[in-house]
Amino acid sequence: MFEIKVNGKWYKVSAFEDEPLLWVLRERLGFTSVKFGCGIGVCGACTVLLNHKAVRACTLSIKEANKKEILTIEGIPSHHPLKRAWIKYQVSQCGYCQPGQILEIYALLLENPSPSEKELTEKLNGHLCRCGTYVRIKKAVKEVVKELKAGGKK
Ligand code: FES
Ligand code: FES
Repeated sequence: MFEIKVNGKWYKVSAFEDEPLLWVLRERLGFTSVKFGCGIGVCGACTVLLNHKAVRACTLSIKEANKKEILTIEGIPSHHPLKRAWIKYQVSQCGYCQPGQILEIYALLLENPSPSEKELTEKLNGHLCRCGTYVRIKKAVKEVVKELKAGGKK
């Protein structure tokens, strides 16, 4: 039996110790926003926060996540500047990669509320978007950074 805190709530789950966190979240707990893409840590679709750091849930076992805190897109409030900017700039196309993209940026802004263009590009390079939404993502993130500088909530 393992115990993980997801979006502020503790869950006890029975799973194989080498079972990827991705499948525990999706299949055992119903957090289907965490997407399966490549399964080998390359595409970023399964990104979640583990103790406030962005990780790939497809290559992390439930054993490694045990007793830790996880954030999925459902745990970010709808009034959060990132979600508002995503809507304003109509960032999503098919939407498949977007939870992972937003969580990666969320983690980046926790570490550095004012990332450079290069830092942002480096993070986005780790996330495959077959719809090519990168330009709109950058516009949205720049707006959030401005809002944070002006004193908005992270
Ligand atoms: S599904 Fe995890 S990185 Fe692609
Ligand atoms: S919005 Fe379709 S894959 Fe990114």
